[in-house]
Amino acid sequence: MRVLLFTGKGGVGKTTASAATAAAAAARGSKVLVLSTDPAHSLADALGVRLGAVPTEVDTGLYGMQVDAQRAFEQTWRDIQAYLAGVLERAGVDALQAEELTVLPGAEEVLALLEVSRQVTSGPWDLVVVDCAPTGETLRLLALPEALSWYVERVFPAQRRALRAVRPLLSRVSGPAVPREDVFDAVERLHRELLQVRAVLTAPSTSVRLVLTPEAVVVAEARRTLTSLALYGYRVDALVANRVFPASDDPFLAGGARAQTEQLEGVRRDAGGLPVMVAPYRPAEPVGLTALTAFGQELYDGADPGQAVADLPELLEVGRTADGFELSLALPLAHKEDLDLTRTGDELTVTVSGHRRVLALPSALRRCRVAGARLVDGRLVVRFEPDPAVWMRS
Ligand SMILES: Nc1ncnc2c1ncn2[C@@H]1O[C@H](COP(=O)(O)OP(=O)(O)OP(=O)(O)O)[C@@H](O)[C@H]1O
Ligand SMILES: [Mg+2]
Repeated sequence: MRVLLFTGKGGVGKTTASAATAAAAAARGSKVLVLSTDPAHSLADALGVRLGAVPTEVDTGLYGMQVDAQRAFEQTWRDIQAYLAGVLERAGVDALQAEELTVLPGAEEVLALLEVSRQVTSGPWDLVVVDCAPTGETLRLLALPEALSWYVERVFPAQRRALRAVRPLLSRVSGPAVPREDVFDAVERLHRELLQVRAVLTAPSTSVRLVLTPEAVVVAEARRTLTSLALYGYRVDALVANRVFPASDDPFLAGGARAQTEQLEGVRRDAGGLPVMVAPYRPAEPVGLTALTAFGQELYDGADPGQAVADLPELLEVGRTADGFELSLALPLAHKEDLDLTRTGDELTVTVSGHRRVLALPSALRRCRVAGARLVDGRLVVRFEPDPAVWMRS
């Protein structure tokens, strides 16, 4: 089973590209589900059908669905959010981590992703296409399972044990500030589910396709998104440049086309070998099954949209060097100024433009000290040298 996630800045054509991809794949005989995590009903509008909270057949082999977040909204979620916000201050979690946790994205979006992972693990699909929320939200969302794991694995067990011991005393004095067992249970259940979501989203059979239009502002955001996606371990396998003007004799249109060509050249140059698929600006909105199928077939040039379109470089690699090890992390288009690296015990924390990832170091690297780091060819390379003090001990 393949999973394709479409993301990109607002309005660039994510919904159109998702629906077109799904329609073109279904036309080739695949059983396809296209699912929107966007609370607006634009997927249904694009397809020109009504969609509900369960997969609805739109055409032979093509199913669509709109997660009904309102219905799925659970009371436990509100409890968890309120509880987390309160407890973070007291738990002494560092500020950045606390921030990541309190900007928990809307429960609707998380529930939508839970639904994606349910469909992927138990649905009858050859291909699941996900029309994601615009870039910023999606990124936070994608990072969430990892941030939550960090918290649940370190803070909760100890706190829970401690609280069990003191609860009989506390319940008499402090009221709502004391986390209840059911909140812990809910957090643990959620944590398990989110790990499942993350496993689905970062599986080798899942790819992200980043949609952009060839305009400076959109391209700038696409660059940041690409780096952040790599940081969090998501594989982008193609860029989709949408609404590209055809060449024209009209001087006004020709000017626009020239500016777009420049942007597209920049994107191609810096994409580091990622394919850039191009969809032309259409005179009419590509809505309805016929138009979308044609859009998809043209976009993939008749090939299978589910196929991975690039030989992807390994996201994270560890190798030996003459005097130690090297850990390298793919960070396409990253700038050195935006990068920060800290080592705390068994972990390496990489921050790029405010996005943060905590990497648990493999055992060989835990006994080393960081000897240096550099950015080369879109990869962050961190050198590790054995730390005699630590090696002696074991
Ligand atoms: N290549 C194209 N030519 C002409 N119109 C297009 C093209 N691609 C998309 N559109 C139109 O542009 C509008 C925005 O597209 P779409 O809804 O797919 O964007 P989106 O990225 O999903 O937006 P949002 O961020 O709001 O979800 C729609 O009206 C769509 O029909
Ligand atoms: Mg949309």
